Amino acid sequence: MMELQVNGIKRAVSAGAGTSLLYVLRDELDLTGTKYGCGEGQCGACTVLMDGKAVRSCSVPLRAAEGKQVTTIEGLEKEGKLHPVQEAFLNVDVFQCGYCAPGMIMSAVALLKDNPKPSQEEIVDYMNGNICRCGTYPRIVRAIQEASN
Ligand code: FES
Repeated sequence: MMELQVNGIKRAVSAGAGTSLLYVLRDELDLTGTKYGCGEGQCGACTVLMDGKAVRSCSVPLRAAEGKQVTTIEGLEKEGKLHPVQEAFLNVDVFQCGYCAPGMIMSAVALLKDNPKPSQEEIVDYMNGNICRCGTYPRIVRAIQEASN
């Protein structure tokens, strides 16, 4: 048994230490907001925060997450209020199929934590590793700009 801190709650998990964090979140803890895209660290669909930094949960073994604060898309809402990045994604109507959105939002949250007023170039540069197969990139950039205002 290992212990994980997820969205501020201690959770006991029985998966092996080498199991990817993504599988633990989705299959053991039922936190299915985090998505499986490529499974190889290439698409960003599985992005979560670990101690505030964006990581690709498909490529993080459980042992590396032990003792860290893991935040998933389910953990952004506070007291019934969505995170400003979530609000901005809704306002700008970013979503098409929506599959990349949790990973996009988690990356954007990490970006704004480090750089609260990013330029358009900085947004594009930072979000470069998150892939949207519907091509909603212009709306994603707009939503992040709105969230940073
Ligand atoms: Fe992890 Fe694609 S599923 S980066």
